[in-house]
Amino acid sequence: MDSQDPASGADPAASTPAPVTRRRFLAACGKSAAALASVGVIVAAVRFIYPPSRRWLRWPRVVAPFQAIAAVDTLPVGEWKLFSIASVEDESPPKKRSVWVLREGDNANAFRVLSATCTHAGCQVAWKSTRKLFVCPCHGGTFEADGNRKSGPPQRALAAVDHQVKDGQLMVRTDDA
Ligand code: FES
Repeated sequence: MDSQDPASGADPAASTPAPVTRRRFLAACGKSAAALASVGVIVAAVRFIYPPSRRWLRWPRVVAPFQAIAAVDTLPVGEWKLFSIASVEDESPPKKRSVWVLREGDNANAFRVLSATCTHAGCQVAWKSTRKLFVCPCHGGTFEADGNRKSGPPQRALAAVDHQVKDGQLMVRTDDA
C-alpha cells in the first residue's frame, strides 16, 4: 500500500521530525562537550605558542624613568652581567625585573642591554657562555647573544632595553623587562 499523500506526492513520514529519544539527547550532549573540549585545547595550544604580550595588555603604558644600575668602570668588557631593576609600576607585591648587560668595548657607550624575561611565558633566561646563548629554564627556549630567538617555543626576540651612560653610571629604562 502506498503511504504517500496523493495530493502533494510527499511522504508525510519524511517531513515529521524524529522524536528526541534519550539516546539521541545523550549523543548530542556528548558531541557538544567534545566540541567545547576541542576549542579549549586549541585555545590553550595557541596561548602556549603565542602567549599574550604583557606589553599589549597594559594600558595606559607607564614610561619608566632611567635608573642607574652600575658604575661603568665596574663592568668588565666582554662579560654578560645580570641586574635587577625595581619596578616603577604600582604592582603589589612589587615585581623585580632583570636585564642582561654586556659591555662591548672600552668606549663607555658600548653597551648591549637585553631584557632577561623570556618572551614565551616570562621565565628568566640565563646566559650560557659555553654555548654563547641565552637559555630559558622553563621550556628550553634559546636566544642568540643579540637577543634574537634561536629555538624553542618563544616567537619573539628578547626585548632590547633603553639605556644611556650618565655621570659614569649605566642607566636603564624599562617597563617590560
Ligand atoms: S618561558 Fe617557555 S621557553 Fe621560556
